[in-house]
Amino acid sequence: MCYCCPSPPPVQLMSIRPDDYHRFFRTVYGRRCNALNNRYLLPADEDELKRFDLLHRLTRFVLGGSNYIGPVKQVLSPERKPAGDKLRVLDLGTGGGLWAIDMADEFPHTEVTGVDLAPLQPEWVPVNCSFEVCDLDAHCLPYESNSFDVVHARNMHAGISNYPHFLHELSRILRPGGVLILIEFDLRPVADGILVSSQTKTDMYGWCALTEEIQRCLGARGVDIAVPEKMGVLAYETGCFPEVLQQHADIPIGFWPKDPTMLTVGQLAWMNFDLLVLAVKPLLLSSGLPESRVKMLMQDAQRDLYQPLAQMSTRLHFVHAVKRA
Ligand SMILES: C[S@@+](CC[C@H](N)C(=O)[O-])C[C@H]1O[C@@H](n2cnc3c(N)ncnc32)[C@H](O)[C@@H]1O
Repeated sequence: MCYCCPSPPPVQLMSIRPDDYHRFFRTVYGRRCNALNNRYLLPADEDELKRFDLLHRLTRFVLGGSNYIGPVKQVLSPERKPAGDKLRVLDLGTGGGLWAIDMADEFPHTEVTGVDLAPLQPEWVPVNCSFEVCDLDAHCLPYESNSFDVVHARNMHAGISNYPHFLHELSRILRPGGVLILIEFDLRPVADGILVSSQTKTDMYGWCALTEEIQRCLGARGVDIAVPEKMGVLAYETGCFPEVLQQHADIPIGFWPKDPTMLTVGQLAWMNFDLLVLAVKPLLLSSGLPESRVKMLMQDAQRDLYQPLAQMSTRLHFVHAVKRA
């Protein structure tokens, strides 16, 4: 039962049959998007899947080749298997499902579930991995209390209108002793280690202007754009975690780092943002911006990507916490 509802909600998980696959999608300004949630207007198509692949590889690089932070290995060790049940992992906003598939491979004795607005995941997956379709921006998540050992939500806060409530729900479905992992990009760009805006004097005006417009459009759709930097505090405020650790890493965008590892990270980030500039078109146009303005914003941001005058970065925030036993 949800922490604030007197009775459980109707089940919101949706079954996918090959003949009604198309009902999960609609076209918005030339891109295929999900049909369940009007707030989340980034595409759900092949190009966006390429971007998810880049995001996944980038995050793994930043985490030193691992898929997680916190005591995940200990929590998912076979000895912790609950009597009569399995160890369970949930990936919220799973996208192409790569994280869920990796986790299912690494922990074959666990049951891994990925859930998303759209059925974008591959058909052939490890036997202990499955995918579901559901709008998680719902009042109550369709999962039982104390049912998962690891709950992971990465790069998906743009589809959640009430993140504090969402965190209460994640805390509810975590088993005592289970690990919560949240990973989100800051929407503000970073120049020379400092978060900047288009008002700041930098050589990346086009990039700042586009990211500000994205923030404005998301804000107008009810998304709290400050979530990435404060999600640790919000998790702590659920009262379910005795300790919450939040860290961040500034990720280079482009080909300027001298260090070979950071150069690889920079290349992956650059490719991600190259695709993101095009991916935000449905969001910007649906938010009422004239086509000419959107075109200019995209061109100016692309100029900063293709002919950079500054060393651009982006900030990635990480949170992990263990639920009170
Ligand atoms: C940027 S992708 C990230 C994918 C993956 N988590 C990763 O980090 O590579 C965000 C994903 O979250 C999903 N998403 C956003 N809001 C959602 C919601 N309210 N319910 C379910 N999924 C949502 C989107 O459909 C999309 O696939």
